[in-house]
Amino acid sequence: MDIVTKINNLRKERDAVILAHNYQIAKVQDVADFVGDSLELAKIAKTLKERVVVLCGVYFMAETISILAPDKIVLIPDMNAGCPLADSITVSEIKKLKVEHPKALVVAYVNTSAEVKAMSDYCCTSSNAVSIVEKVPSEEVIFIPDRNLGSYVQEYTQKKVYLSDGFCPTHNVIDRSDVLEIKRIHPDAKFVAHPECKREVLALADAVKSTTGILNYVKNDNNKEFYSSVNCTPRKQFIIGTEEGLIYRLKKENPTKEFYTFSKPIFCPNMKKITLGKVLSSLENMQYVVKVKEDVREKARLAIERMFEI
Ligand code: 13P
Repeated sequence: MDIVTKINNLRKERDAVILAHNYQIAKVQDVADFVGDSLELAKIAKTLKERVVVLCGVYFMAETISILAPDKIVLIPDMNAGCPLADSITVSEIKKLKVEHPKALVVAYVNTSAEVKAMSDYCCTSSNAVSIVEKVPSEEVIFIPDRNLGSYVQEYTQKKVYLSDGFCPTHNVIDRSDVLEIKRIHPDAKFVAHPECKREVLALADAVKSTTGILNYVKNDNNKEFYSSVNCTPRKQFIIGTEEGLIYRLKKENPTKEFYTFSKPIFCPNMKKITLGKVLSSLENMQYVVKVKEDVREKARLAIERMFEI
């Protein structure tokens, strides 16, 4: 029996659903019931009927599912699939920031641990960070942990945003010179970037979007009426400023469009730790269970639910 058939049989037997982030390898995306960005994966958690959730992504994503759906058995196929950005902020650092800025509310990017979420007032994801900061009831905000996303948010709000110093090592390797070089090679391509990229990179982007936001942007970029009104042909080429795993879905869903990425690898080693073999062992052995402690869960849930409310 091939591995996909084994996974399919066990998925039924265990009453499981497989969720995958947009950066997962192609084979894992193909076997998943649902593929999405962080916000979509968090939202879907509350709608699932299955008893078991296999989360193919990084640890904080599995924790988020456990926070929102505590009655489910949440499994991550590789316990070491972490997120250096999430690990860049600690509870004691938040305490210090709160003392330094007593009037500020804390907005935590979803790429944080459950403990950090529990100490925060609101959560946000890359697709809603600007609007969450705009809508929280305070004029000062402590934004953790991504300094790139935080400074992007600061550009779009009059509020005072205090940053911490975290960054995503995968997105942070893209430099302005890399973008200029690829734009020179593909002058007709639109450049769409993830907000975890540096400011200097975002400044060169035609659009700044979450991973699913990039997919939607590319899908909707065939507005013939608009293009003919400005007398030019639709541009069907895109430079993708995010982890290269997204290219698989982009190509699959947009076979007539062209995608370019940088000469250096934009690669998240943690996302790529999940393989089909590990998904199978996860279902076979019901491993590795991610369960957030109840006292932490309840506080973290509030921060996430407040995000959904606004
Ligand atoms: P998205 O929410 O855009 O999917 O991003 C998640 C992430 O971890 C990016 O590094």
